[in-house]
Amino acid sequence: MAQIRIRNSGKRLQTEQEVRSFLEEQGVLYEHWPTEKLPSRLREKFVLSDEEKEEILQVYQEEIESLAKRNGYVQWDVVALSEATPNLEELLKKFENVHVHTEDEVRAIVSGNGIFTIKGKEGTGYFDVELSAGDVISVPVNTPHFFTLMENRKVVAVRLFIDPSGWVAHPYQDPEFNA
Ligand SMILES: [Fe+2]
Repeated sequence: MAQIRIRNSGKRLQTEQEVRSFLEEQGVLYEHWPTEKLPSRLREKFVLSDEEKEEILQVYQEEIESLAKRNGYVQWDVVALSEATPNLEELLKKFENVHVHTEDEVRAIVSGNGIFTIKGKEGTGYFDVELSAGDVISVPVNTPHFFTLMENRKVVAVRLFIDPSGWVAHPYQDPEFNA
């Protein structure tokens, strides 16, 4: 279940109701996939073969297709990051810059955790969405944001694309953002 921290006030939203209504107000899609569908041998496994990634896509085929049909995604894949990932430090440094895309950025967390830091609507400032297994989020097109790992530095996520070229990160210089 996702939790939210609003950076300006430090306020945390922790109940499902609060999280859902806040994200809805912000125009951020949020839903939940059933984690119990994942076979136990694939749970909390952060180094995955191509076959295992394919298996994860098959496990969640119904959820992926439902989301794809609603929002126009045509391609999907699985990404796994952990201390075992070569150059993890450099990757995270690259990730942690505010940017925008010309399409939504969709992530469904399969194992581990991740944080999306997103610029809210007028007056909200930036907020962090802390995600855990089963959480699915879509950052709307042209919304300043970045993604990073949490302290455990482990995540497996499904990514969905309308057009992979739309996922190019365009840096967004924002005097309002204080890391
Ligand atoms: Fe992004």
